[in-house]
Amino acid sequence: MKPVVLFYSFSGRTRRVAEILAKHLGAPAVEVRTKEPIRHPYGVGFMNRIKERTPEIVVDADLGAFDTFYIGGPTWYWTVTPPLLTLLRTRSFAGKTVVPFCTNDAQPGNFLARFAELCPGADVKPGFQVQRVRRLSDEEIEKAVAAAMV
Ligand SMILES: Cc1cc2nc3c(=O)[nH]c(=O)nc-3n(C[C@H](O)[C@H](O)[C@H](O)COP(=O)(O)O)c2cc1C
Repeated sequence: MKPVVLFYSFSGRTRRVAEILAKHLGAPAVEVRTKEPIRHPYGVGFMNRIKERTPEIVVDADLGAFDTFYIGGPTWYWTVTPPLLTLLRTRSFAGKTVVPFCTNDAQPGNFLARFAELCPGADVKPGFQVQRVRRLSDEEIEKAVAAAMV
């Protein structure tokens, strides 16, 4: 198994989880960045502009070098974060194993469930979520990650 952790993070919480997960797996953590920075992601106007959109992204990794992809980001509006929608719609994970993960403030919506449809041909695992990351110590995140591996 050659795993990699791909993550999008707006305010750093998913980054913390992704980095602890990567350390746990002995895998690299690679950030999914948007070409244009996303600014001030609040309010109904922003939601209407961003939800279900696919902003251009940059991923500095040779994805062909890996066979197991942990793919995570924050829940936005009860679903998958737009930069990850771009990732899943523009790259093929067919024949690979995909483990989705998300962070959120307690309302994951359909973030994890959507991966099966978004990764045709992949072996998509149920994945896991880490809630209210800002209240957790690194040790607590490590515990949550380790429990999700079982
Ligand atoms: C635009 C926006 C929408 C969000 N929507 C949800 C949501 O639907 N459910 C939820 O529990 N948290 C929601 N949150 C909170 C984030 O998912 C949560 O704080 C997450 O851990 C932030 O991760 P990050 O620091 O990696 O960006 C939202 C936050 C933002 C900025």
